[in-house]
Amino acid sequence: MSLVSARDLRKSYGLGASSVEVLHGVDLDVAEGEFVALMGPSGSGKSTLLNLIAGLDRPSSGELTVADARLATMGAADLARWRGRHIGFVFQLYHLMPTLTAAQNVEVPLLLSGLDRARRQRQVQIALDVVGLSHRNDHKPAQLSGGQQQRVAIARAIVTDAPLLVCDEPTGDLDRASADEVLDLLGAFNRDHGKTIVMVTHDPAAAARATRRLHLDKGRVVDASQVH
Ligand SMILES: Nc1ncnc2c1ncn2[C@@H]1O[C@H](COP(=O)(O)OP(=O)(O)O)[C@@H](O)[C@H]1O
Ligand SMILES: [Mg+2]
Repeated sequence: MSLVSARDLRKSYGLGASSVEVLHGVDLDVAEGEFVALMGPSGSGKSTLLNLIAGLDRPSSGELTVADARLATMGAADLARWRGRHIGFVFQLYHLMPTLTAAQNVEVPLLLSGLDRARRQRQVQIALDVVGLSHRNDHKPAQLSGGQQQRVAIARAIVTDAPLLVCDEPTGDLDRASADEVLDLLGAFNRDHGKTIVMVTHDPAAAARATRRLHLDKGRVVDASQVH
């Protein structure tokens, strides 16, 4: 079953004569349980496409269904609620809140979940444990290495048990050893916990971990094996 289905997806930025189309009709299907790497040159629209899939932005036209929701027609409040239940997002530069501890950062997506405090803290501890950072609960981001910050961000992405992880160059700012730790975690979530992952990357070692590699080329998605 497709978790992500895009048909003739287009996205333009700007208005009128200055409008520029970045995605020129993307067709894409990602089945439940896949780990897809999305590659392509800088500026080709990879982040644009990920943001559409994650419901952070809206397409200009086309059909986009993610986890049974038709995103193009949803209102902002519904979209935010849907995102909280279905999407874990991992960014290149972690996007942790600098004034919050690791545990508080991981708790953020749970604040709208309706879970009581004890239950939230239990889930936060499980998520930090899974990424190997339960001994860093009370550290602020500035007291953590880049690799540790990204593992906190991954704990935040999985704490709601969302079915789809959307990762935008998650190893782009990390040294090889830290990058491999992050990729080990993503691989394990995919294999052992059935998480579907769509990951943008420039890193061939990261792309090699995926079960399928796609290329964004001239505003369309093509199978990487077809790229010369
Ligand atoms: N919010 C925005 N407003 C205007 N142009 C944008 C915006 N976001 C991205 N773009 C443009 O869209 C193109 C694709 O950007 P992006 O999706 O970030 O590419 P990639 O992630 O592949 O490097 C670039 O030319 C970029 O300048
Ligand atoms: Mg990008």
